[in-house]
Amino acid sequence: MHTDSWAIKAKKLGLRSRAVFKLEEILTKTKALKSNGLVLDIGSAPGGWSQLIKTLEPKSDVYAVDLLPMDPIKGVYFFQEDITNIDVIKEISLLKTKFDLVISDLAPNLTGISAVDEENIFELNSITLKTAVNYLNKSYGKFILKTFQNSLFKKIRLEMEKSFNIVQTYKPAASKSKSGEIYLYGERPL
Ligand SMILES: C[S@@+](CC[C@H](N)C(=O)[O-])C[C@H]1O[C@@H](n2cnc3c(N)ncnc32)[C@H](O)[C@@H]1O
Repeated sequence: MHTDSWAIKAKKLGLRSRAVFKLEEILTKTKALKSNGLVLDIGSAPGGWSQLIKTLEPKSDVYAVDLLPMDPIKGVYFFQEDITNIDVIKEISLLKTKFDLVISDLAPNLTGISAVDEENIFELNSITLKTAVNYLNKSYGKFILKTFQNSLFKKIRLEMEKSFNIVQTYKPAASKSKSGEIYLYGERPL
C-alpha cells in the first residue's frame, strides 16, 4: 500500500494516527499483547497506540505518558509528563515490575544536524530502555521501541541485547521507507 494510503485508512477507521498500523503489525508478529494485560505507552499523544491496545484487548489497562496533552480514551490513564520524570507519577511508580508490555513511539524534536539528532535519539532511547526494564515484569515482560536506522542503531540494539533475552528488529510495511524509523522488540528482561 502507498504510504499515504495508511493515513487515509486511519482516518476512515476513526483512528488517531497512521502509527497504529506499524504497532498492529509488530503485535501480530510477536504476539506481544495478552488479554487483561498491563500496558505502558511512552510518547503516547495523540493516542493512536493506546487506542489500538484498547481496541484489540478491551480488558487491558493502559497507562500513557507524553509531554503533550492527549484527549481522553476510555480505560487509558494519561499523564502529561516528561519520560525522564516518570518515577514522580505515583500511580505509575506503584506499578514498577508489574507491566506486561511497554511500547515507545517517542521521537525527539529534530534539529536537522544529523550528529546532534542521532545523539538525542540515542539518549532518549536509552532512557526509555532503562524505564522499560524497571517497569516490566521480569519473567515475561515485552518491549517495543521505535528508533532510527542511523550510525548509533547498532549501539542501541546492543544495549537491548544486554537487557533482554530475546531481541528482534522490525520494519513494518506502514513505516515510510524514507523515514529511517525502525523498531526493536525485546522479550524477557535480564
Ligand atoms: C510519533 S509521536 C507518538 C504517536 C503515538 N504513538 C500515536 O500513535 O498517536 C511521538 C511523541 O513523543 C512525545 N515525546 C517526545 N519526547 C518526549 C519526552 N521526553 N517525554 C514524553 N514524551 C515525549 C512527543 O510529544 C510526541 O507526542
